[in-house]
Amino acid sequence: MSFVQTYGPWALVTGASSGLGACYARALAARGLNLIVTARREERLRTLAEELRAEHQILVDPVAVDLLRPAAVRSLEQAIEDRRLGLIVCNAGFGASGRFHELDARRQTEMVRLNCEAPVRLLQALSPALIREGRGGVIMIASTASFQCTPWMAVYGASKAFDLALGEALTVELGKHGIDVLTVCPGHTATEFHQVAGVERAAVGGPPADPMEVVEGSLRRLGKQMTWVHGARNRWMVRANRFLPRSIMAWAAGRVLAKRLQDDDAS
Ligand SMILES: NC(=O)c1ccc[n+]([C@@H]2O[C@H](COP(=O)([O-])OP(=O)(O)OC[C@H]3O[C@@H](n4cnc5c(N)ncnc54)[C@H](OP(=O)(O)O)[C@@H]3O)[C@@H](O)[C@H]2O)c1
Repeated sequence: MSFVQTYGPWALVTGASSGLGACYARALAARGLNLIVTARREERLRTLAEELRAEHQILVDPVAVDLLRPAAVRSLEQAIEDRRLGLIVCNAGFGASGRFHELDARRQTEMVRLNCEAPVRLLQALSPALIREGRGGVIMIASTASFQCTPWMAVYGASKAFDLALGEALTVELGKHGIDVLTVCPGHTATEFHQVAGVERAAVGGPPADPMEVVEGSLRRLGKQMTWVHGARNRWMVRANRFLPRSIMAWAAGRVLAKRLQDDDAS
């Protein structure tokens, strides 16, 4: 079966106004899927929709919603209506860096709600339609931060550990209904993430990954594996997690992130 037959005719991409989400929208449009693209910044969604309609002759519905609002999932369900949804990309998310006790408490809670609660609510509402079809896919965006704690980005790392555990569990559960669930773990990637998170420099050295490379790599692996970590260096780090005590990984992650915090303080 072709990609459209397996994961079409419609896909939903959250966090599509920038970064990885916009790249997922472009990559899925190029494969011929119709799209519902969502985020808060409506103008960006409209521009993206126009671009993709013109380039790929597909249908694109931009739906501006704040996923932190209780009514957001209902709005997306209404936007989907009786369209046959075949793929859900749970991508919207953000991070924040700094000392745990000094970071804005409300923002930290919102991070947990967007990174953890929103995919739960979205997938509970929308996966029954995929189950009825007996096919389709879910892409869950976790992170390399999912595999060890991240001091000075403590809540972010914890939220991404949740995404990894949720995605992997659903690979098994939804897999029984013919649905492919892939959990994607990008490392440092060139998006607006670091600007939003207040991280001006990469925590781990090396240039950031191209977001389209992450997206294309993940789409090639959908239906073939449960979890995919982007980049050989990141995969090596994740493997080290299995052999080294968690205390050492916590210390190492803390050293890197603390250094960055000091650098930022000094600048
Ligand atoms: N970039 C990296 O290095 C990296 C590494 C590992 C994992 N990730 C993960 O990748 C995912 C995508 O992030 P990105 O790197 O592409 O960053 P990004 O460019 O900042 O994109 C984040 C997206 O989430 C949306 N969003 C934020 N708050 C929202 C809300 N309340 N309601 C609805 N949408 C909201 C943003 O749109 P609006 O502002 O328009 O709402 C934006 O489209 C995140 O889950 C992130 O944790 C990123």
